Amino acid sequence: MTSQNQYKVTESDLNNLKQWFSRYVQSFYSPDPVIQQNIVLKEKHSLRVCDEIMNIGKQLDLSQNNLRLAEVMALFHDIGRFEQFTRYKTFADKKSENHGELGVKVLQQEKTLTTLDEETRELILKAISYHNRWSVPEDESPVCIYFSKLLRDADKLDIFNLFSTYYYVPLTERNATVELDLPDTPTVSDEIMTSVRDGKIIKMQQLRSLNDFKLLQMSWIYDINYQPTFQMILERGYLKKIRDTLPASNKIDQIYYRILHHLKKCSEFGDFNQLSPI
Ligand SMILES: [Fe+2]
Repeated sequence: MTSQNQYKVTESDLNNLKQWFSRYVQSFYSPDPVIQQNIVLKEKHSLRVCDEIMNIGKQLDLSQNNLRLAEVMALFHDIGRFEQFTRYKTFADKKSENHGELGVKVLQQEKTLTTLDEETRELILKAISYHNRWSVPEDESPVCIYFSKLLRDADKLDIFNLFSTYYYVPLTERNATVELDLPDTPTVSDEIMTSVRDGKIIKMQQLRSLNDFKLLQMSWIYDINYQPTFQMILERGYLKKIRDTLPASNKIDQIYYRILHHLKKCSEFGDFNQLSPI
């Protein structure tokens, strides 16, 4: 399946799509500094996710064609964000609409992927629509599951990068949108600590403070799929950087060490559920 699969993205397809991406994003540039800041934030994020998906994909020994396919998914995974922010002034899907599905609509309306064959186009659109779901539907094809999980890993890798550095910037340079408008109070909710400790699902609506959100981010380690991604998270110290911005507390320490243990184990042996190479 590796190099003989029917999905095809050529070097020139990729170059044309990159050009389309930058033209499309520039059409959302605005004199309003709040809009501009958030558009550029997502533009840079999309480009970094391209780098990350290549980093992971190379370590998974993907073919050149499959690396290009993965890169197109990364490039467009957040394409719905630009219209979302411009129209609703928020990145909160609950207050606006699902940005994965909005992205699929944008790519269909703009006929962005029409130069690719239908199977390839459908695969890319599915991976985009699954990137922000709670999980990837298990009844999808193995190829679709493989790429969707790869995209989710690359996206999270950059989210870890973004947040682990973001919490160290001066308060005046912070961006309320990134923080989901949560108050930066010194508290952590007991409910959130218990849920993270017990590996329970946390809903965005349960978050009461920025610290709650940091704990939720640490628990995203449980949603990582591929061994190279675990290794990069560990090597880059993302988990520790987030933990160090939380208050000193035994309960938080317990949670941190538990998640760290999982991270170390998976970076050494891979996740139990890791998919075999395609
Ligand atoms: Fe993203």
